Amino acid sequence: MRILVIHGPNLNLLGEREPEVYGSTTLGEIDERLRKRAEELGFEITTFQSNHEGEIVDRIAEARGGADAIIINPGAYTHTSVAIRDALAAVGLPTVEVHLSNIYAREAFRHTSLVAPVVTGQISGFGANSYLLALEAISLSGGGR
Ligand code: DQA
Repeated sequence: MRILVIHGPNLNLLGEREPEVYGSTTLGEIDERLRKRAEELGFEITTFQSNHEGEIVDRIAEARGGADAIIINPGAYTHTSVAIRDALAAVGLPTVEVHLSNIYAREAFRHTSLVAPVVTGQISGFGANSYLLALEAISLSGGGR
């Protein structure tokens, strides 16, 4: 199983960015934990971060044929990007949407996820562990539901 992990805008700042909301774990540490667990599960993992919507759209399109499942934290684009939603719908791969914070416990503008209707499921609110839970979800369900 080949897993593509996509981190959206500002997630490169994890560790220093609003630690009271997002925790003190850096993106590098999250990727390292994912890599370790993926290895135990026998998965291949590729991680990618971008602050640019179009780059994220391109990376999702490239996943067709190159990945078996996607884990994505679209960051603020969760709430605004029809383009990322459409890209996920177009590739049609099993996808887990991840958020470090519980987006439903925050400002009203974060309560709407444009990508939620086209993904397999969503994990929100477990800090850095949200990503590891996404990996477990893919493992337990064999990529499907
Ligand atoms: C986030 C939640 C978003 O609302 C926010 O814009 C982010 C991070 C999270 O992981 O909790 O950048 O996706």
